[in-house]
Amino acid sequence: MYLLAIESSCDETAVAVVRDGRTVLSDVIASQADMHATYGGVVPEIASRKHVEAIAGLARAALERAGLKREQVDAVAVTYAPGLIGAVLVGVSFAKAAAFALGKPLIPVHHVRGHIAANYITHPDLEPPFVCLCVSGGNTMIVDVRDYTEMSILGATRDDAAGECFDKAARVLGIGYPGGAPMDALSRGGDDRRYPLPRAHVEGAPLDMSFSGLKTAVVNLVHNAGQKGEELDLPGLAASFSAAVSDTLVPRTMAAARVKGYGKVAVAGGVAANSRLRADLEAACRKSGDELFLPALSLCGDNGAMIGCQGFYEFLAGHTAGMDLNAYATRDISLG
Ligand code: KG4
Repeated sequence: MYLLAIESSCDETAVAVVRDGRTVLSDVIASQADMHATYGGVVPEIASRKHVEAIAGLARAALERAGLKREQVDAVAVTYAPGLIGAVLVGVSFAKAAAFALGKPLIPVHHVRGHIAANYITHPDLEPPFVCLCVSGGNTMIVDVRDYTEMSILGATRDDAAGECFDKAARVLGIGYPGGAPMDALSRGGDDRRYPLPRAHVEGAPLDMSFSGLKTAVVNLVHNAGQKGEELDLPGLAASFSAAVSDTLVPRTMAAARVKGYGKVAVAGGVAANSRLRADLEAACRKSGDELFLPALSLCGDNGAMIGCQGFYEFLAGHTAGMDLNAYATRDISLG
């Protein structure tokens, strides 16, 4: 079964052709990150307009690279939630038009379910159930993946997403946007105990997280140093920051894995590319005996292939939509 898969929930327009869920025939992405870097963050209106400009050409390119004629497409999958509403709407409108014109089923895909599915592409042998830490620019949650389309949240951030926190810290340090990758690179030569940064706990909710205090701590540290004319140890700060994020995420993920007892842990989303997080999870899983599944670095950020993969399993479960499909800025992952 050939799926044309579309992703436009934030600042990447992506279209892929995926066969039977796990074979990626093409995956083309147009990133707008450079454009938004001028503003230090994603400007939603600009994102929507750029998606409109890019999407038709990318769909054509994805089919061409896959060596597929449009009549050979069996169904169209699309991210319909969560994300920037105008941005998601562009993908949904295009997918509806494509499905209608081709006379093929339309498959709505939850964006975070897509991130989780990136692991199926990297690890062809991976099957649910497993516990998945989903960490991106807009979402941070620990998910109980009971089956391909049956999942629920075990714990989540009460405020900022981990990626958002990386981006904000990088912004105050003046090292670019999006900030996760440059912070990661900077942290490699640094002393992770150079700056004491907070690790928050949510009273009565041991699997929930909070990152707003960490974000504020970095902002204050940078401003105070600036006022005093002190020079910061940037690699030390990036390493201390990455350690604080990882120390928040890893023990909760492992606690969730212990509770569920599946013996399998996966990670998903843009922050899954973080070297400290990957190393800490590897160490934790070695100790616990859980098998760890890390997505390929190329599949951590937003892409169309993951939507095509999850779309296949949604289709098998009978989850298709009509021409009245809408886009949603927020939606619980358990609802699909
Ligand atoms: O999954 P993604 O591409 O978009 C969303 O669905 O949100 O994630 C983007 C986020 C950004 O916040 C970016 O700074 C972060 O992932 N990121 C990283 C790394 N690479 C990307 N964060 C930490 N370390 C990285 N190596």
